[in-house]
Amino acid sequence: MSRGNDRWVHTPPRQSATFDSHAIAEIHRAAATGIYDIRGFGAKRQLPHFDDLLFLGASISRYPLEGYREKCATDVTLGTRFAKKPITLAIPITIAGMSFGSLSAPAKEALGRGASAAGTSTTTGDGGMTAEERQHSSLLVYQVLPSRYGMDPDQLRKADAIEVVVGQGAKPGGGGMLLGQKISERVAKMRTLPAGIDQRSACRHPDWTGPDDLQIKIEELREITDWQKPIYVKVGAARPYYDTALAVKSGADVVVLDGMQGGTAATQEVFIEHVGIPTLAAIRPAVDALQDLDAHREVQLIVSGGIRSGADVAKALALGADAVSIGVAALIALGDNAPELDADYAEIGSAAGFYDDWHEGRDPAGISTQDDELAARFDPELGGRRLANYLRTMVLEAQTLARACGKSHLHNLEPEDLVALTLEASAMARVPLAGTTWVPGA
Ligand SMILES: Cc1cc2nc3c(=O)[nH]c(=O)nc-3n(C[C@H](O)[C@H](O)[C@H](O)COP(=O)(O)O)c2cc1C
Repeated sequence: MSRGNDRWVHTPPRQSATFDSHAIAEIHRAAATGIYDIRGFGAKRQLPHFDDLLFLGASISRYPLEGYREKCATDVTLGTRFAKKPITLAIPITIAGMSFGSLSAPAKEALGRGASAAGTSTTTGDGGMTAEERQHSSLLVYQVLPSRYGMDPDQLRKADAIEVVVGQGAKPGGGGMLLGQKISERVAKMRTLPAGIDQRSACRHPDWTGPDDLQIKIEELREITDWQKPIYVKVGAARPYYDTALAVKSGADVVVLDGMQGGTAATQEVFIEHVGIPTLAAIRPAVDALQDLDAHREVQLIVSGGIRSGADVAKALALGADAVSIGVAALIALGDNAPELDADYAEIGSAAGFYDDWHEGRDPAGISTQDDELAARFDPELGGRRLANYLRTMVLEAQTLARACGKSHLHNLEPEDLVALTLEASAMARVPLAGTTWVPGA
Protein backbone atom coordinates (compact mmCIF):
# COMPACT_ATOMS: atom_id res chain seq x y z
CA MET A 1 0.00 0.00 0.00
CA SER A 2 1.39 3.45 -0.83
CA ARG A 3 0.27 7.04 -0.42
CA GLY A 4 -0.42 9.25 -3.44
CA ASN A 5 -2.33 12.55 -3.54
CA ASP A 6 -3.20 12.06 0.16
CA ARG A 7 -5.11 8.78 -0.54
CA TRP A 8 -3.96 5.24 0.22
CA VAL A 9 -3.62 3.27 -3.02
CA HIS A 10 -3.78 -0.54 -2.96
CA THR A 11 -1.49 -2.33 -5.41
CA PRO A 12 -2.54 -5.93 -6.02
CA PRO A 13 -0.10 -8.57 -4.69
CA ARG A 14 2.56 -9.42 -7.23
CA GLN A 15 3.87 -12.94 -7.65
CA SER A 16 7.62 -13.33 -8.11
CA ALA A 17 8.57 -14.95 -11.40
CA THR A 18 11.49 -16.62 -9.63
CA PHE A 19 9.71 -17.57 -6.42
CA ASP A 20 6.33 -18.40 -7.96
CA SER A 21 3.66 -20.26 -5.98
CA HIS A 22 5.02 -23.65 -7.04
CA ALA A 23 8.59 -22.75 -5.97
CA ILE A 24 7.32 -21.46 -2.61
CA ALA A 25 5.17 -24.56 -2.01
CA GLU A 26 8.11 -26.79 -2.94
CA ILE A 27 10.43 -25.06 -0.44
CA HIS A 28 7.78 -25.42 2.27
CA ARG A 29 7.27 -29.07 1.39
CA ALA A 30 11.03 -29.79 1.45
CA ALA A 31 11.43 -27.89 4.74
CA ALA A 32 8.62 -29.91 6.32
CA THR A 33 9.62 -33.38 5.07
CA GLY A 34 13.37 -33.37 4.38
CA ILE A 35 12.93 -35.43 1.21
CA TYR A 36 12.46 -34.80 -2.50
CA ASP A 37 9.04 -35.07 -4.08
CA ILE A 38 8.11 -38.22 -5.95
CA ARG A 39 5.25 -38.28 -8.44
CA GLY A 40 3.87 -39.83 -11.58
CA PHE A 41 2.87 -38.21 -14.93
CA GLY A 42 5.47 -36.49 -17.16
CA ALA A 43 7.25 -33.12 -17.15
CA LYS A 44 4.79 -30.35 -16.31
CA ARG A 45 6.75 -27.29 -17.27
CA GLN A 46 6.45 -25.60 -20.65
CA LEU A 47 8.82 -27.13 -23.17
CA PRO A 48 9.28 -26.81 -26.94
CA HIS A 49 6.66 -29.17 -28.30
CA PHE A 50 4.82 -30.37 -31.37
CA ASP A 51 2.32 -27.54 -30.78
CA ASP A 52 5.08 -25.22 -31.96
CA LEU A 53 4.88 -26.76 -35.44
CA LEU A 54 2.22 -26.28 -38.13
CA PHE A 55 1.45 -28.20 -41.30
CA LEU A 56 1.46 -26.42 -44.64
CA GLY A 57 -1.72 -27.71 -46.26
CA ALA A 58 -1.74 -28.10 -50.02
CA SER A 59 -3.15 -25.41 -52.33
CA ILE A 60 -1.73 -24.47 -55.76
CA SER A 61 1.84 -25.67 -55.38
CA ARG A 62 0.72 -28.97 -53.76
CA TYR A 63 -2.25 -31.25 -54.46
CA PRO A 64 -4.42 -32.45 -51.52
CA LEU A 65 -6.18 -35.83 -51.35
CA GLU A 66 -9.94 -36.17 -51.10
CA GLY A 67 -10.91 -37.28 -47.59
CA TYR A 68 -13.90 -39.44 -48.50
CA ARG A 69 -12.59 -41.16 -51.59
CA GLU A 70 -8.81 -41.28 -51.57
CA LYS A 71 -7.00 -43.62 -49.21
CA CYS A 72 -4.40 -42.58 -46.71
CA ALA A 73 -2.79 -45.77 -45.41
CA THR A 74 -1.64 -46.09 -41.80
CA ASP A 75 0.06 -49.48 -41.41
CA VAL A 76 3.63 -49.99 -40.22
CA THR A 77 5.85 -53.08 -40.05
CA LEU A 78 8.39 -53.30 -37.25
CA GLY A 79 11.40 -55.60 -37.17
CA THR A 80 12.17 -55.88 -40.88
CA ARG A 81 15.94 -55.80 -40.30
CA PHE A 82 16.73 -59.18 -38.69
CA ALA A 83 13.63 -60.76 -37.16
CA LYS A 84 12.15 -63.78 -38.93
CA LYS A 85 8.69 -62.62 -37.84
CA PRO A 86 8.37 -58.83 -38.06
CA ILE A 87 5.11 -57.46 -36.70
CA THR A 88 2.66 -55.39 -38.71
CA LEU A 89 0.46 -52.85 -36.95
CA ALA A 90 -2.66 -51.37 -38.53
CA ILE A 91 -1.82 -47.99 -37.00
CA PRO A 92 1.48 -46.29 -36.16
CA ILE A 93 0.64 -45.77 -32.48
CA THR A 94 1.68 -48.36 -29.89
CA ILE A 95 0.98 -48.59 -26.17
CA ALA A 96 4.19 -47.98 -24.19
CA GLY A 97 5.56 -50.28 -21.50
CA MET A 98 3.82 -49.69 -18.19
CA SER A 99 4.42 -52.18 -15.45
CA PHE A 100 1.97 -54.40 -13.66
CA GLY A 101 2.66 -53.02 -10.21
CA SER A 102 2.48 -49.42 -11.29
CA LEU A 103 -0.87 -50.28 -12.93
CA SER A 104 -3.59 -52.62 -11.72
CA ALA A 105 -4.23 -55.95 -13.45
CA PRO A 106 -7.57 -54.75 -14.93
CA ALA A 107 -5.86 -51.60 -16.28
CA LYS A 108 -3.19 -53.73 -17.97
CA GLU A 109 -5.95 -55.92 -19.40
CA ALA A 110 -7.75 -52.82 -20.74
CA LEU A 111 -4.58 -51.62 -22.47
CA GLY A 112 -4.38 -55.00 -24.22
CA ARG A 113 -8.04 -54.93 -25.17
CA GLY A 114 -7.91 -51.38 -26.52
CA ALA A 115 -4.67 -51.89 -28.44
CA SER A 116 -5.90 -55.15 -29.98
CA ALA A 117 -9.22 -53.61 -31.06
CA ALA A 118 -7.33 -50.80 -32.79
CA GLY A 119 -4.84 -53.19 -34.45
CA THR A 120 -1.74 -52.30 -32.48
CA SER A 121 0.58 -53.64 -29.80
CA THR A 122 0.89 -53.13 -26.09
CA THR A 123 3.94 -53.64 -23.90
CA THR A 124 4.68 -55.26 -20.53
CA GLY A 125 6.93 -53.35 -18.09
CA ASP A 126 9.01 -53.81 -14.99
CA GLY A 127 7.94 -56.96 -13.14
CA GLY A 128 6.99 -59.26 -16.00
CA MET A 129 3.90 -60.32 -17.94
CA THR A 130 0.45 -60.99 -16.49
CA ALA A 131 -1.73 -63.77 -17.90
CA GLU A 132 -4.58 -61.27 -18.44
CA GLU A 133 -2.52 -58.90 -20.56
CA ARG A 134 -1.15 -61.77 -22.69
CA GLN A 135 -4.65 -63.15 -23.20
CA HIS A 136 -6.12 -59.80 -24.25
CA SER A 137 -3.22 -58.46 -26.33
CA SER A 138 -3.02 -59.69 -29.91
CA LEU A 139 0.51 -58.25 -30.09
CA LEU A 140 2.51 -57.97 -26.88
CA VAL A 141 6.03 -56.57 -26.54
CA TYR A 142 8.03 -57.93 -23.60
CA GLN A 143 10.41 -55.63 -21.79
CA VAL A 144 13.84 -56.64 -20.52
CA LEU A 145 14.76 -53.99 -17.95
CA PRO A 146 17.78 -53.19 -15.80
CA SER A 147 15.96 -54.48 -12.69
CA ARG A 148 15.23 -57.87 -14.36
CA TYR A 149 12.29 -58.10 -11.93
CA GLY A 150 9.96 -60.84 -13.14
CA MET A 151 12.22 -61.60 -16.12
CA ASP A 152 11.32 -65.07 -17.40
CA PRO A 153 12.60 -66.79 -20.59
CA ASP A 154 9.22 -68.53 -21.03
CA GLN A 155 7.52 -65.13 -21.10
CA LEU A 156 10.09 -63.95 -23.66
CA ARG A 157 8.97 -66.80 -25.91
CA LYS A 158 5.31 -65.94 -25.39
CA ALA A 159 5.87 -62.35 -26.55
CA ASP A 160 5.61 -61.03 -30.11
CA ALA A 161 8.59 -58.68 -29.78
CA ILE A 162 11.20 -57.85 -27.14
CA GLU A 163 12.18 -54.42 -25.89
CA VAL A 164 15.51 -53.96 -24.13
CA VAL A 165 15.03 -50.92 -21.92
CA VAL A 166 18.19 -48.92 -21.48
CA GLY A 167 16.40 -45.82 -20.26
CA GLN A 168 13.20 -43.82 -20.04
CA GLY A 169 12.58 -40.21 -21.10
CA ALA A 170 11.30 -39.21 -17.66
CA LYS A 171 14.60 -40.29 -16.11
CA PRO A 172 17.50 -41.06 -18.45
CA GLY A 173 20.26 -42.40 -16.21
CA GLY A 174 17.88 -43.23 -13.37
CA GLY A 175 16.24 -46.35 -12.00
CA GLY A 176 12.61 -47.07 -11.21
CA MET A 177 10.75 -47.09 -7.96
CA LEU A 178 7.66 -48.86 -6.77
CA LEU A 179 6.71 -47.95 -3.25
CA GLY A 180 5.71 -50.47 -0.62
CA GLN A 181 2.02 -49.55 -0.65
CA LYS A 182 1.79 -50.94 -4.20
CA ILE A 183 3.74 -54.16 -3.57
CA SER A 184 0.81 -56.54 -3.15
CA GLU A 185 1.34 -60.29 -2.65
CA ARG A 186 0.88 -60.85 -6.40
CA VAL A 187 3.31 -58.09 -7.44
CA ALA A 188 5.85 -59.32 -4.86
CA LYS A 189 5.57 -62.92 -6.04
CA MET A 190 6.12 -61.98 -9.68
CA ARG A 191 9.23 -60.00 -8.71
CA THR A 192 10.44 -62.49 -6.07
CA LEU A 193 10.71 -59.66 -3.56
CA PRO A 194 8.97 -59.10 -0.21
CA ALA A 195 5.47 -57.58 -0.16
CA GLY A 196 4.94 -54.11 1.28
CA ILE A 197 8.60 -53.02 0.99
CA ASP A 198 9.74 -50.15 -1.31
CA GLN A 199 11.50 -51.35 -4.46
CA ARG A 200 14.14 -49.21 -6.09
CA SER A 201 15.23 -50.74 -9.35
CA ALA A 202 18.61 -50.46 -11.02
CA CYS A 203 19.56 -47.59 -13.32
CA ARG A 204 21.71 -49.84 -15.51
CA HIS A 205 21.75 -53.46 -16.52
CA PRO A 206 23.80 -55.56 -14.08
CA ASP A 207 25.78 -57.31 -16.82
CA TRP A 208 26.70 -54.28 -18.91
CA THR A 209 29.60 -51.91 -18.96
CA GLY A 210 29.15 -50.56 -22.48
CA PRO A 211 27.63 -50.92 -25.95
CA ASP A 212 29.45 -54.19 -26.70
CA ASP A 213 27.50 -55.80 -23.88
CA LEU A 214 24.26 -54.58 -25.49
CA GLN A 215 25.23 -56.44 -28.64
CA ILE A 216 25.88 -59.63 -26.64
CA LYS A 217 22.54 -59.22 -24.83
CA ILE A 218 20.66 -58.79 -28.10
CA GLU A 219 22.32 -61.93 -29.53
CA GLU A 220 21.39 -63.85 -26.38
CA LEU A 221 17.76 -62.75 -26.72
CA ARG A 222 17.71 -63.70 -30.40
CA GLU A 223 19.02 -67.17 -29.54
CA ILE A 224 16.42 -67.67 -26.80
CA THR A 225 13.68 -66.75 -29.26
CA ASP A 226 15.18 -68.46 -32.34
CA TRP A 227 15.68 -65.18 -34.26
CA GLN A 228 11.91 -64.95 -34.63
CA LYS A 229 11.06 -61.76 -32.75
CA PRO A 230 11.91 -58.14 -33.42
CA ILE A 231 14.22 -56.70 -30.79
CA TYR A 232 13.67 -53.09 -29.81
CA VAL A 233 16.08 -50.95 -27.80
CA LYS A 234 14.48 -48.17 -25.74
CA VAL A 235 16.47 -45.11 -24.69
CA GLY A 236 15.60 -41.94 -22.83
CA ALA A 237 16.38 -38.93 -25.03
CA ALA A 238 19.66 -37.35 -23.92
CA ARG A 239 22.23 -37.92 -26.68
CA PRO A 240 19.92 -39.32 -29.36
CA TYR A 241 22.45 -39.30 -32.22
CA TYR A 242 25.00 -41.47 -30.44
CA ASP A 243 22.49 -43.65 -28.60
CA THR A 244 20.60 -44.42 -31.81
CA ALA A 245 23.84 -45.15 -33.68
CA LEU A 246 25.04 -47.49 -30.91
CA ALA A 247 21.66 -49.25 -30.73
CA VAL A 248 21.83 -49.85 -34.49
CA LYS A 249 25.42 -51.06 -34.24
CA SER A 250 24.40 -53.42 -31.45
CA GLY A 251 21.85 -55.08 -33.72
CA ALA A 252 18.52 -53.48 -32.76
CA ASP A 253 15.60 -53.95 -35.15
CA VAL A 254 13.75 -50.98 -33.70
CA VAL A 255 14.86 -47.95 -31.67
CA VAL A 256 12.38 -46.52 -29.16
CA LEU A 257 13.24 -42.94 -28.29
CA ASP A 258 11.46 -41.51 -25.26
CA GLY A 259 11.65 -37.72 -24.82
CA MET A 260 11.73 -35.84 -21.52
CA GLN A 261 7.96 -35.27 -21.49
CA GLY A 262 7.64 -39.06 -21.21
CA GLY A 263 5.41 -40.32 -18.43
CA THR A 264 6.44 -42.30 -15.39
CA ALA A 265 4.61 -44.06 -12.59
CA ALA A 266 6.95 -42.74 -9.88
CA THR A 267 10.08 -40.64 -10.19
CA GLN A 268 11.71 -37.77 -8.33
CA GLU A 269 10.21 -34.48 -9.58
CA VAL A 270 13.73 -33.04 -9.96
CA PHE A 271 14.55 -35.85 -12.39
CA ILE A 272 11.32 -35.51 -14.39
CA GLU A 273 11.75 -31.77 -14.87
CA HIS A 274 15.53 -31.41 -15.26
CA VAL A 275 17.02 -34.41 -17.09
CA GLY A 276 16.91 -35.28 -20.77
CA ILE A 277 15.83 -33.34 -23.83
CA PRO A 278 12.34 -32.62 -25.21
CA THR A 279 10.83 -35.15 -27.61
CA LEU A 280 10.75 -32.52 -30.35
CA ALA A 281 14.50 -31.96 -30.04
CA ALA A 282 15.36 -35.67 -30.09
CA ILE A 283 13.83 -36.84 -33.36
CA ARG A 284 16.03 -35.16 -35.97
CA PRO A 285 19.38 -36.28 -34.43
CA ALA A 286 18.06 -39.86 -34.16
CA VAL A 287 16.96 -39.78 -37.81
CA ASP A 288 20.39 -38.34 -38.73
CA ALA A 289 22.06 -41.33 -37.06
CA LEU A 290 19.80 -43.77 -38.92
CA GLN A 291 20.44 -42.00 -42.23
CA ASP A 292 24.20 -41.83 -41.66
CA LEU A 293 24.18 -45.60 -41.12
CA ASP A 294 21.90 -46.13 -44.13
CA ALA A 295 19.37 -47.66 -41.77
CA HIS A 296 16.46 -45.18 -41.85
CA ARG A 297 13.24 -47.18 -42.35
CA GLU A 298 15.22 -50.46 -42.15
CA VAL A 299 15.59 -49.95 -38.41
CA GLN A 300 12.29 -48.44 -37.37
CA LEU A 301 12.12 -45.46 -35.02
CA ILE A 302 9.34 -45.26 -32.43
CA VAL A 303 9.07 -41.91 -30.68
CA SER A 304 7.31 -41.23 -27.38
CA GLY A 305 6.97 -38.57 -24.72
CA GLY A 306 3.98 -36.25 -24.56
CA ILE A 307 2.04 -37.54 -27.58
CA ARG A 308 -1.63 -36.54 -27.15
CA SER A 309 -3.35 -36.15 -30.50
CA GLY A 310 -3.35 -37.08 -34.16
CA ALA A 311 -1.52 -33.80 -34.82
CA ASP A 312 1.34 -34.90 -32.54
CA VAL A 313 1.41 -38.28 -34.30
CA ALA A 314 1.50 -36.72 -37.76
CA LYS A 315 4.25 -34.27 -36.76
CA ALA A 316 6.44 -37.00 -35.23
CA LEU A 317 6.06 -39.07 -38.40
CA ALA A 318 6.78 -36.06 -40.60
CA LEU A 319 10.06 -35.55 -38.73
CA GLY A 320 11.08 -39.13 -39.56
CA ALA A 321 9.58 -41.48 -36.96
CA ASP A 322 7.97 -44.72 -38.16
CA ALA A 323 5.55 -44.88 -35.24
CA VAL A 324 4.83 -43.28 -31.89
CA SER A 325 4.06 -44.73 -28.51
CA ILE A 326 1.77 -43.44 -25.76
CA GLY A 327 1.67 -43.92 -21.99
CA VAL A 328 -0.03 -41.11 -20.05
CA ALA A 329 -2.52 -40.40 -22.85
CA ALA A 330 -3.57 -44.06 -22.86
CA LEU A 331 -4.20 -43.92 -19.09
CA ILE A 332 -6.26 -40.76 -19.51
CA ALA A 333 -8.27 -42.51 -22.24
CA LEU A 334 -8.94 -45.36 -19.79
CA GLY A 335 -10.43 -42.82 -17.37
CA ASP A 336 -7.50 -41.46 -15.34
CA ASN A 337 -8.17 -37.92 -14.05
CA ALA A 338 -11.79 -38.10 -15.22
CA PRO A 339 -14.00 -35.21 -14.01
CA GLU A 340 -16.63 -37.68 -12.64
CA LEU A 341 -14.06 -38.59 -9.97
CA ASP A 342 -13.42 -35.04 -8.81
CA ALA A 343 -14.92 -35.60 -5.34
CA ASP A 344 -12.83 -38.77 -4.87
CA TYR A 345 -9.68 -36.94 -5.92
CA ALA A 346 -10.54 -34.12 -3.49
CA GLU A 347 -10.67 -36.69 -0.66
CA ILE A 348 -7.04 -37.55 -1.26
CA GLY A 349 -5.97 -33.93 -1.62
CA SER A 350 -6.00 -33.64 -5.41
CA ALA A 351 -8.43 -32.77 -8.19
CA ALA A 352 -9.47 -34.20 -11.55
CA GLY A 353 -6.97 -33.04 -14.13
CA PHE A 354 -4.17 -32.69 -11.57
CA TYR A 355 -3.82 -36.13 -10.00
CA ASP A 356 -0.25 -37.40 -10.28
CA ASP A 357 0.36 -39.28 -7.02
CA TRP A 358 0.30 -42.56 -8.88
CA HIS A 359 3.01 -43.95 -6.59
CA GLU A 360 0.66 -43.83 -3.60
CA GLY A 361 -1.65 -46.54 -4.90
CA ARG A 362 -4.82 -44.69 -3.81
CA ASP A 363 -6.12 -44.01 -7.33
CA PRO A 364 -9.93 -43.69 -7.20
CA ALA A 365 -10.09 -44.61 -10.91
CA GLY A 366 -8.63 -48.05 -10.05
CA ILE A 367 -5.84 -47.66 -12.63
CA SER A 368 -2.60 -46.91 -10.76
CA THR A 369 -3.31 -49.05 -7.71
CA GLN A 370 -2.87 -52.53 -6.33
CA ASP A 371 -5.70 -52.13 -3.83
CA ASP A 372 -8.23 -54.81 -4.78
CA GLU A 373 -11.26 -52.68 -3.89
CA LEU A 374 -10.05 -49.70 -5.90
CA ALA A 375 -8.94 -51.90 -8.82
CA ALA A 376 -12.41 -53.51 -8.89
CA ARG A 377 -13.92 -50.07 -9.64
CA PHE A 378 -12.24 -50.16 -13.05
CA ASP A 379 -14.05 -51.98 -15.87
CA PRO A 380 -11.43 -53.37 -18.32
CA GLU A 381 -13.97 -53.85 -21.13
CA LEU A 382 -15.17 -50.25 -20.95
CA GLY A 383 -11.60 -49.02 -20.54
CA GLY A 384 -10.53 -51.04 -23.57
CA ARG A 385 -13.36 -49.58 -25.68
CA ARG A 386 -12.43 -46.05 -24.66
CA LEU A 387 -8.79 -46.62 -25.52
CA ALA A 388 -9.69 -48.10 -28.91
CA ASN A 389 -11.93 -45.08 -29.66
CA TYR A 390 -9.16 -42.71 -28.69
CA LEU A 391 -6.59 -44.51 -30.86
CA ARG A 392 -9.00 -44.49 -33.82
CA THR A 393 -9.63 -40.79 -33.34
CA MET A 394 -5.92 -39.99 -33.34
CA VAL A 395 -5.46 -41.97 -36.54
CA LEU A 396 -8.39 -40.16 -38.21
CA GLU A 397 -6.87 -36.84 -37.19
CA ALA A 398 -3.43 -37.79 -38.51
CA GLN A 399 -5.00 -38.97 -41.79
CA THR A 400 -6.91 -35.70 -42.12
CA LEU A 401 -3.67 -33.75 -41.85
CA ALA A 402 -1.77 -36.10 -44.16
CA ARG A 403 -4.43 -35.90 -46.86
CA ALA A 404 -4.39 -32.13 -46.64
CA CYS A 405 -0.66 -32.37 -47.38
CA GLY A 406 -1.39 -34.66 -50.33
CA LYS A 407 -0.08 -37.88 -48.76
CA SER A 408 -1.51 -41.32 -49.47
CA HIS A 409 0.33 -42.87 -46.51
CA LEU A 410 1.09 -41.34 -43.12
CA HIS A 411 4.72 -42.28 -43.71
CA ASN A 412 4.90 -39.96 -46.69
CA LEU A 413 4.68 -36.95 -44.40
CA GLU A 414 8.03 -35.16 -44.36
CA PRO A 415 9.76 -32.19 -42.75
CA GLU A 416 8.98 -30.18 -45.88
CA ASP A 417 5.30 -30.27 -44.82
CA LEU A 418 6.05 -28.35 -41.62
CA VAL A 419 6.93 -24.88 -40.40
CA ALA A 420 7.69 -23.67 -36.88
CA LEU A 421 6.09 -20.98 -34.76
CA THR A 422 9.08 -20.37 -32.51
CA LEU A 423 12.82 -20.05 -32.99
CA GLU A 424 13.41 -22.95 -30.61
CA ALA A 425 11.10 -25.32 -32.46
CA SER A 426 12.51 -24.19 -35.78
CA ALA A 427 16.08 -24.94 -34.67
CA MET A 428 15.15 -28.26 -33.03
CA ALA A 429 12.87 -29.63 -35.72
CA ARG A 430 14.97 -28.05 -38.46
CA VAL A 431 11.97 -26.66 -40.31
CA PRO A 432 11.69 -22.98 -41.32
CA LEU A 433 10.18 -20.36 -39.09
CA ALA A 434 6.63 -19.79 -40.44
CA GLY A 435 6.57 -17.27 -43.28
CA THR A 436 10.33 -17.40 -43.81
CA THR A 437 12.86 -19.75 -45.38
CA TRP A 438 15.07 -19.48 -42.32
CA VAL A 439 16.11 -22.41 -40.14
CA PRO A 440 18.34 -21.21 -37.28
CA GLY A 441 21.69 -22.97 -37.34
CA ALA A 442 21.16 -24.61 -40.75
C1 LIG B 1 2.30 -45.61 -15.19
C2 LIG B 1 3.52 -45.72 -16.02
C3 LIG B 1 4.36 -46.82 -15.86
C4 LIG B 1 5.51 -46.95 -16.64
N1 LIG B 1 6.29 -48.08 -16.52
C5 LIG B 1 7.34 -48.25 -17.36
C6 LIG B 1 8.06 -49.47 -17.38
O1 LIG B 1 7.80 -50.39 -16.62
N2 LIG B 1 9.07 -49.58 -18.28
C7 LIG B 1 9.38 -48.59 -19.16
O2 LIG B 1 10.29 -48.73 -19.99
N3 LIG B 1 8.72 -47.42 -19.16
C8 LIG B 1 7.69 -47.25 -18.31
N4 LIG B 1 6.94 -46.09 -18.39
C9 LIG B 1 7.27 -45.09 -19.44
C10 LIG B 1 6.49 -45.40 -20.72
O3 LIG B 1 6.88 -46.64 -21.25
C11 LIG B 1 6.74 -44.36 -21.82
O4 LIG B 1 8.11 -44.26 -22.06
C12 LIG B 1 6.18 -42.97 -21.50
O5 LIG B 1 5.02 -43.09 -20.73
C13 LIG B 1 5.89 -42.24 -22.80
O6 LIG B 1 5.49 -40.92 -22.60
P1 LIG B 1 3.96 -40.45 -22.48
O7 LIG B 1 3.47 -41.03 -21.19
O8 LIG B 1 4.02 -38.98 -22.44
O9 LIG B 1 3.21 -41.00 -23.64
C14 LIG B 1 5.83 -45.94 -17.58
C15 LIG B 1 4.99 -44.82 -17.73
C16 LIG B 1 3.85 -44.71 -16.97
C17 LIG B 1 2.96 -43.51 -17.16
